[in-house]
Amino acid sequence: MSQIVVLNAGGQYCHLIARRIRELGVHATVAEIDTPAARLADARGIIISGGPASVVEPTSPSVDVGIYGLGVPILGICYGHQLLARDLRGRVEPGVMKEYGHSALHAGDGLLFQGVPTRELRVWMSHGDTVVDIPPGFTIVGETDDCKVAAMEDRARRLFGLQFHPEVVHTDHGLEILRSFVADVCRCGEDWDPRARVEQVMTSIRKTAGDRNVFFLISGGVDSTVAFYLCAKALGPARVLGLYVDTGFMRESDADAMRYLERAVGPDAVRVADRSADFLAALEGITNPERKRAIIGDAFVDVQEDEFAKLGLREHEWLLGQGTIYPDTIESGGARHAARIKTHHNRAPRIQTLVDAGRVIEPLVEFYKDEVRVLGEQLGLPHEVVWRHPFPGPGLAVRCVCADAVAAVEPPTVALPAGVTGFVVPVRTVGVQGDERSYSNLLALEGAGGVEGAAMLARRVTNEHRTINRVVDVVYRRGGRSLDALAIQPATLTRERVALLREADARVTRAVRAHGVYDAIWQFPVGMLPLGAAPGRETIVLRPVNSRDGMTAEYARLPEPVILDIAQALATLDRIDAVVYDVTNKPPATIELE
Ligand code: XMP
Repeated sequence: MSQIVVLNAGGQYCHLIARRIRELGVHATVAEIDTPAARLADARGIIISGGPASVVEPTSPSVDVGIYGLGVPILGICYGHQLLARDLRGRVEPGVMKEYGHSALHAGDGLLFQGVPTRELRVWMSHGDTVVDIPPGFTIVGETDDCKVAAMEDRARRLFGLQFHPEVVHTDHGLEILRSFVADVCRCGEDWDPRARVEQVMTSIRKTAGDRNVFFLISGGVDSTVAFYLCAKALGPARVLGLYVDTGFMRESDADAMRYLERAVGPDAVRVADRSADFLAALEGITNPERKRAIIGDAFVDVQEDEFAKLGLREHEWLLGQGTIYPDTIESGGARHAARIKTHHNRAPRIQTLVDAGRVIEPLVEFYKDEVRVLGEQLGLPHEVVWRHPFPGPGLAVRCVCADAVAAVEPPTVALPAGVTGFVVPVRTVGVQGDERSYSNLLALEGAGGVEGAAMLARRVTNEHRTINRVVDVVYRRGGRSLDALAIQPATLTRERVALLREADARVTRAVRAHGVYDAIWQFPVGMLPLGAAPGRETIVLRPVNSRDGMTAEYARLPEPVILDIAQALATLDRIDAVVYDVTNKPPATIELE
């Protein structure tokens, strides 16, 4: 058992919390919110995470109240804070107004504020309900203008509640607050360092594999490359086989890591299969993102079974290897209360069946993305492989937005400052708000005063108008025509569209590398909308983001010369009518368009 267990009240906050605790060198894992108290008795500390539900609803996620009698320190954050209040005979009132964003906290002399050098701090709030009466035994140790019980504690019983989110970077000294809980209250020693885990992971690979070999689908991304390399090191090159499947949705340079593995592990350890025709055929006419994901997930399993048979591999002698990482297993709704935002391809239903049958090996399932990179560096993998931007399994398919029918762009329903023009683009992309999935239209802005001006408006618009989950700034229009000269054109996933997107992506990546900013950006999806002056004409979406682990993200600001170079490079692509720059954070928009 890890020292700290984070009980997942739904959504993604639990991972952010666990990730931050691990940054402190302490092992934290995530567990279902209703984990029986008996199973938590050995933890040094329990954290109840935030989540989208309301504790005043009878069916809301609840903890086993036995945890309050374990004598284990408990920290409730946001939803967890309200749960403490409700369960221990305080009072929570349903909110009429949602408090979302920065607030000024006045901190008292709470135990968790010991390491914080100031009493006034900026904290991040995201809640509707509010604790109005603290439970017996508690004292209030922090308040904001809008929230009288922003922090409370019962020192004797070592119970703590915070309405704000110490785990997000927008909260000042958040890590210090978590450190106080973990180190001063729970007295955890340092026991987590991914670098020190390489041997352990390899031992566990040998144990899981027994005398079976491992067959991998490798994508060129850091996760599957590190996972495959670890298996090759643990079992020897003769007992692993990596198959790079060209789905037709790969980018120009995705095969680079495979070539590296060929050299490092051995030429017989990796193969390539071009299955683009199968993938495209399976997706013919499909426009809905979740349908695309489901079909691609299924097609991966078909291809894997098919290639497996073609290679003459005997089932009982082989395991399927995957580069699944820790949060992948939760975001797909693996945790009962987490909303399904996007289905991850390595948790497709048929793969899950194999997982349940013990036929899958996932060496990285305990690690977060940045920890995988630490492992990769420890293993001596090249910088370009380890620091490659993440790329989703379904690839360009979820960056190539489709549409069923022609639709005109519309004037916005929102008031914009003088000089700014906005258009509602009638095509939907995926978002996440309050841990729930959204699928809404986007707003395109012209004349917003550059990318930064647009980003400021984006925050306001998406907060006030829940029908808009993504905002883009127009950075290029062919012929200088305004965006209302364009319309959404019916479009599906075709080889031609994907080829155009691949070329656009390659040009963007070249420009970004040439300017030396690749490593400064966490991920740079390049997407495409069927928004053009005529059928077959398109708009490219630039979506550079900064993030720690993909769970939340901020749009990344590119220097003006880079934007200009990119726009120029894309303008010479004949079928591109416009280039837009996505200036939305996550939430409310997801990183990928779909
Ligand atoms: P979103 O779009 O949900 O993405 O904000 C968060 C991070 O996850 C990546 N992503 C995926 N990775 N299989 C993957 O391996 C998938 O199906 C998938 N979908 C999204 C995305 O690129 C981003 O880094």
